[in-house]
Amino acid sequence: MARTALVTGASSGIGREIARELDRRGFRVILAARREDRLKELAEELNDSRVIACDISKEEECRRLYEELKDERLTVLVNNAGFGKLGRFDEIPLEDELRMIDTNVKGLHILTKLFLKSFIAEDRGYILNVASSAGLMPGGPLMAAYYATKAYVTSLTGSIYEELKMADSKVKISALCPGPVDTEFNDVANAQFGVKAISAEYCAKKAVEGMFAGTLIIVPERGLGLAAKAAQLAPRKLSLAFTGQLQSGKKTD
Ligand SMILES: NC(=O)c1ccc[n+]([C@@H]2O[C@H](COP(=O)([O-])OP(=O)(O)OC[C@H]3O[C@@H](n4cnc5c(N)ncnc54)[C@H](OP(=O)(O)O)[C@@H]3O)[C@@H](O)[C@H]2O)c1
Repeated sequence: MARTALVTGASSGIGREIARELDRRGFRVILAARREDRLKELAEELNDSRVIACDISKEEECRRLYEELKDERLTVLVNNAGFGKLGRFDEIPLEDELRMIDTNVKGLHILTKLFLKSFIAEDRGYILNVASSAGLMPGGPLMAAYYATKAYVTSLTGSIYEELKMADSKVKISALCPGPVDTEFNDVANAQFGVKAISAEYCAKKAVEGMFAGTLIIVPERGLGLAAKAAQLAPRKLSLAFTGQLQSGKKTD
């Protein structure tokens, strides 16, 4: 029987490439996102897959996804669905941020909880939570809510990682923390990158390698991991000022 993986946000960017990478490794891949037409297009190119249209920002949709997949006996969960918004905290509409929190934090949290319980019961499985280098920083002026959501993801993942180790479990959990990746992220965030982005394909390859190696924090770019560590060691205010400068360069208008 083929091993089965669920990838959320598989209709575009990093999620789509992770789905392709898992397909190349012989997995049956469950493709989840809101744009069903995009998922069906991808499914046609994969060897063995299934499409489930769903909105991760809604609790009932996350629960439905879990119920629909009970018989699939997943061994991999990739919580990738997410988005950001660029702008000053006092200017970004609250509804946009609440939807972001519901997707990047609440949806990821619910799916991690539901599937982790099954994985622990069977003492096997891998969870890859797509965070961001933003999740390694003390904050991100001009993308405040996005950075906060990704800090939640790295914090949650780190704590579960240690709990699994303490319980001597074979279940593995990782957080993917890339810098800029060339996807549709910027169109949604209304931003542009100030530095060169890596390809989604390269990011996905490194992500899947890191996940199967059981790496807690996966940083695909050489050098960025060191930069993130330096930012964590630097005085908080200095690091915030530096990130604020970087973010200013992302504005499109
Ligand atoms: N690109 C970067 O520079 C970068 C860097 C670090 C981390 N990340 C993270 O990587 C992840 C993937 O982003 P990306 O760069 O690949 O951007 P992307 O090309 O815009 O893809 C985002 C994916 O998330 C899905 N999604 C968004 N809201 C959803 C919802 N409510 N329910 C279900 N699916 C939803 C989208 O599908 P539908 O619209 O079809 O629902 C799409 O498949 C995100 O978590 C992002 O924060 C990106």
